[in-house]
Amino acid sequence: MQISIPHGGSLINRINPNYDYSHINKEIELDEIALSDLQLIATGVYSPLTGFLSQRDYQSVIDKTRLPNGFIWSIPITLPTDETTAKKLALDEKARLTYKGKVYGMIEINEIYKPNKLVETKRVYQTEDLAHPGVKKLFSRGDVYIGGPITLVNRSILHKFQQYTFDPLETRNTFKQKGWKTIVGFQTRNPVHRAHEYIQKTALEIVDGLFLNPLVGETKADDIPADVRMESYEVLLNNYYPKDRVCLAVFPAAMRYAGPKEAIFHAIVRKNYGCTHFIVGRDHAGVGDYYGTYDAQRIFDQFTIDELGITPLFFEHSFYCKKCENMASTKTCPHKKEDRLILSGTKVREMLRNGEVPPTEFSRREVIEVLMRGNEKKGRCSYE
Ligand code: ADX
Repeated sequence: MQISIPHGGSLINRINPNYDYSHINKEIELDEIALSDLQLIATGVYSPLTGFLSQRDYQSVIDKTRLPNGFIWSIPITLPTDETTAKKLALDEKARLTYKGKVYGMIEINEIYKPNKLVETKRVYQTEDLAHPGVKKLFSRGDVYIGGPITLVNRSILHKFQQYTFDPLETRNTFKQKGWKTIVGFQTRNPVHRAHEYIQKTALEIVDGLFLNPLVGETKADDIPADVRMESYEVLLNNYYPKDRVCLAVFPAAMRYAGPKEAIFHAIVRKNYGCTHFIVGRDHAGVGDYYGTYDAQRIFDQFTIDELGITPLFFEHSFYCKKCENMASTKTCPHKKEDRLILSGTKVREMLRNGEVPPTEFSRREVIEVLMRGNEKKGRCSYE
């Protein structure tokens, strides 16, 4: 097996630090999601996208989970803006893309269109419920979408994890240097607890390397902050993982909480980073009870492995079994419910808040210590 071919055939590179934008005076102010999407498009993480979706692309993605050229794509990567800004823009012009007033990119404006956000939420999130964090976010963003190719002119990284930030070209080179032929990608927005470790290490028994790729873009307020999570990954890797079999790198995208559709998106971007396999466990990218436990696995039935270009590895809900004295799942454990320790996020959050130490069967002691320190620092903690 070879390191994955990028989605669409080649890695997109839309970076040009020498771009002369002195003559461009139109401006679109980005929110945090659009800024991270700009960087991810330009560095090839979102290959084959070369810009923010045009209306035809957008419609095709929400209707068919594909781009018009047939390539699978499941999450609309759009550039929303407000009506007042949109009125000042014109087709075929260029505009600076700014964040907090600083220029990060350029867009060639091919289209200015009004999306039907109700249809978008139904197709992408399978709900219109504003209590869903992804839906709420979508409706809070601008009502006009701007479509067109982008150029990234300023690469300054906004998050704190510079030493863990790599473009797909770099991760692919790393995998090559390490001699890995099969690499499993792992998406997470949580500290790695024992269930995560169990499924990662089970996968590591059959592949050459683990690409631990925590999402560090915007998440909902009660998710554990990325800096606390990063510290928890470091202590875990230092103490319990073979160094030469793991690569830790951040995925600086926003979390959409779109369950099945986001699972497909998460797999494709990990393919762009060079992964050959991708872990999908229980309720991947889910939130509350909007999605069935294994919906994010079932959606993969709609596509062939050939067209996805990355092999999903599905895992059952895993837990600690007191009789097995081990992590297990219903596939491997014959014991009763009462013998199983399934700690919910809410329960762990409650324990941490009350100053209680969650059991090591749920999380490694070192990770719990990081979480407790994080809890004291922020005065809050969530754990899902
Ligand atoms: S996610 O939103 O990024 O998917 P999380 O960080 O909790 O959330 O999960 C990371 C990956 O581990 C996902 O593939 C998820 O399905 C899987 N996972 C989380 N907990 C379990 C568990 N107890 N058993 C099996 N898979 C799990």
